[in-house]
Amino acid sequence: MTSNRDPGVPLTANRPLLRWIDKMVALTQPAAIHWVDGSQAEYDTLCAGLVAGGTFVKLNEQAWPGCFLARSDPSDVARVEDRTFICSLSKDAAGPTNHWVEPFEMRKKLKGLFAGCMRGRTMYVLPFSMGPVGSPLSQLGIQLTDSAYVVVNMRIMARIGLPVLAEIDKGEKRVVPCIHSVGLPLPEGTRDVPWPCNPEKYIVHFPETREIWSYGSGYGGNALLGKKCFALRIASAMARDEGWMAEHMLILGLENPEGQKTYVAAAFPSACGKTNFAMLVPPAPLAAAGWKITTVGDDIAWLRPDATGHLRAINPEAGFFGVAPGTSLKTNPNAMAALAKNTIFTNCALTPEGGVWWEGMTDTPPATCTDWQGKIWTPEIARTTGAKAAQPNARFTAPASQCPTIDPEWENPEGVPIAAIIFGGRRATTTPLVYQTFNWSGGVYAGATMGSETTAAAVGATGQVRRDPMAMLPFCGYHMADYFRHWIKMQRGLVETPRIFHVNWFRKDADGRFLWPGYSENARVLRWIVERCQGRARAHETPLGWMPSHEDIDWTGLAFPRETFEQLIAVDRKAWRAELINHEELFLDLHSHLPKEMIFERELLICRL
Ligand code: OXD
Ligand code: MN
Repeated sequence: MTSNRDPGVPLTANRPLLRWIDKMVALTQPAAIHWVDGSQAEYDTLCAGLVAGGTFVKLNEQAWPGCFLARSDPSDVARVEDRTFICSLSKDAAGPTNHWVEPFEMRKKLKGLFAGCMRGRTMYVLPFSMGPVGSPLSQLGIQLTDSAYVVVNMRIMARIGLPVLAEIDKGEKRVVPCIHSVGLPLPEGTRDVPWPCNPEKYIVHFPETREIWSYGSGYGGNALLGKKCFALRIASAMARDEGWMAEHMLILGLENPEGQKTYVAAAFPSACGKTNFAMLVPPAPLAAAGWKITTVGDDIAWLRPDATGHLRAINPEAGFFGVAPGTSLKTNPNAMAALAKNTIFTNCALTPEGGVWWEGMTDTPPATCTDWQGKIWTPEIARTTGAKAAQPNARFTAPASQCPTIDPEWENPEGVPIAAIIFGGRRATTTPLVYQTFNWSGGVYAGATMGSETTAAAVGATGQVRRDPMAMLPFCGYHMADYFRHWIKMQRGLVETPRIFHVNWFRKDADGRFLWPGYSENARVLRWIVERCQGRARAHETPLGWMPSHEDIDWTGLAFPRETFEQLIAVDRKAWRAELINHEELFLDLHSHLPKEMIFERELLICRL
């Protein structure tokens, strides 16, 4: 049916939309236009085209049904934060943590870059909804892109196509225009490359006009514009204006043996195990007792007070764009099940059997495989040259519906009620395993000052703490201190605020060994968190907030020594005084907009210490 339609024929009569597309066509001059209907037949045709063009390798259908592997250009493997711009009308509105260019100047630059940039290529018109179609919490966008790879990935990550166009045509919601080009026109007679991109990259946001322009990259957050660009940077500005919150948070549900479910949202910086936490398997003794964890989302949460003044959240995404290396049956069996079929892999290694592999997937690596750059890889080569089979930021794009722990309410248009917000980072010292902040503004302070240590894999000195407020440093579409103010203000619209907690799974002893086993065992801490929200769990007061004693945690099946636990929750006053100086440094950068509450919270903490 749909496969026989002419994709060049517009799927809407929406005049303003058609006018905008005409303008963009005149600017970018594509050879053809394809209106994306979002059907399976269309997806299959696009994937077949990507295989024929060399962008995709079809994986072994028996072992990996419906799966493909793409290899990017080696220069286009990650989000480019230094090429990401927030072009608000004033520099002051973007704040010191964002790259800013004067919008008029940026528009001139973009017009030049986009002029004729789609020559010889097809422009796909991709309507998408972030959040379930028709949900009052969802938002709409149209992405124009010259990348079929982007279209097929977006079909997994968002709701796309005809149902979304119907929603757009109702005219009830503002539509965010997103324009994306890989920046490599194809003059007549030239052959395409498997991964077109341009060394010059611009990922540009205009928060006031709610526009996204992305040029030069085909990868991840640079190109799948619904994700970081829309659902965080633009949405954070919308949320501030409209009284809701767009956050870099997972959402999970913890169900107790009585069948009562409590949802929490948690913000951790990139590479701190958000996907693993969202799909956590409780340790066997807790599971046997009837404790279950379900997944609503692994990366982004949109939160809004409902009519009764309680905060509810949706996951605006429909898939997981997860980091493959390190994902295994041991670290995340639910992710492994989610990605077992209908998944697009990018920059993983290809096995001789036509499957994918990455570092950490199995204890024993394959005897040989094709690495992410198409070269032969063997464990021996890895030993002698250090070459990785998969790129460290290799990804899987997998439908969320395939996750065995997906929550039955994950597509509830009204969202799920949020009882707790958890902040966390990777800290070898200073920060205890868990504490509950005394109140909302103390919680905002904990989130605003959260930090994470850089690992050996990242640029810069190892072990240095990078402040990453609410894990939003690369994703907040406006001045970070105004964002803190927005958090403070949110309390006023709520009859009951979620309780706020801070966790750190990564504290080490004097010999550099992790004090906490992590993984499954984190469910014990989660149980304490949830039972604090229900007024069921005990805690004692410390300078930072409320903390569990050894006897307040469920240790069923785990003989966890009291002394180790005490090391884990210790508040080292000297270390905290140094920490507070560090907080002051962040606040100095933001000081012209900083809400008074942040200064008072810091003063109170100093007094308590
Ligand atoms: C992501 C990130 O890709 O936070 O989700 O970097
Ligand atoms: Mn993320």
